[in-house]
Amino acid sequence: MDNRPIGVFDSGLGGLTVVRELMHLLPRERIIYLGDTGRVPYGGRSRETILKYARQDINFLSTFDLKAIMIACGTVSTTALDTVRSEYALPIFGVAESAAKEAAEITKNNKIGLIGTTASIQSGAYERFIHQYNKEANIYGVACPLFVPLVENGRFQKGDPVIEIVAAEYLDPLKKRGIDTLVLGCTHYPLLDGVISGFMGRGVTLVSTGTQGARFLAEKLSQKDALAAENAEGSRHYYVTDSTENFSRLASIFLGCPVSGLVEQVSIESYDRPHLQK
Ligand code: DGL
Repeated sequence: MDNRPIGVFDSGLGGLTVVRELMHLLPRERIIYLGDTGRVPYGGRSRETILKYARQDINFLSTFDLKAIMIACGTVSTTALDTVRSEYALPIFGVAESAAKEAAEITKNNKIGLIGTTASIQSGAYERFIHQYNKEANIYGVACPLFVPLVENGRFQKGDPVIEIVAAEYLDPLKKRGIDTLVLGCTHYPLLDGVISGFMGRGVTLVSTGTQGARFLAEKLSQKDALAAENAEGSRHYYVTDSTENFSRLASIFLGCPVSGLVEQVSIESYDRPHLQK
């Protein structure tokens, strides 16, 4: 049993899809969420920059006495996870492997589509993980750089002409390949479920990094006997790196419920030094 909080971070609000699932699976946990809303999106940046941002995010979260950190960002999970894991003493988990495993196991025709940010697709990490679990799988990756800015700006509803056109452009090559499984390799994409499944049709199963990542973390904490006590009271504390002004309205859409808990702004550039290093 471990009542210390879990630190969760993303480049923006997408990681809240992981928090939503964690609130459902582990309602007694205390969650400290950092959304780097001042620097989103990460996905078009170089590995060096993503790593620098990830270290600052972890340095900030490490100022709390945490039991684990969940990288609720496909981009950081695919480009920086191994490096930061080797640098910090805290257990750090990512969202990519569990989603890849799920896709590898559920595909029937071994044709798996993968969508994510440019950095995630270029990393080849999802392909490596999928092949660990299914050597026969054919994987078709497409980078979707416009999805994150559109989602962060609230343009994710089915029927919105802008998102529909962009989605059709990205997804059409995958549809033509005849995939039966599609990995949503970015934690912002569950908000596009309706648009994506509307275009791909019923025969394609969507695998969400948000849901799978949260399940994976719950399993790991349970194996380590590190879940919060039965009588513990769950809570959420949110930090953002840009103004807090619009956070609650947009965040409630990602969370699927009103935001309860404090929302504060943090000056992330000042977290250049690790708090707890290996
Ligand atoms: N939610 C992040 C991810 O999972 C978005 C990346 C970005 O900021 O470009 O990749």
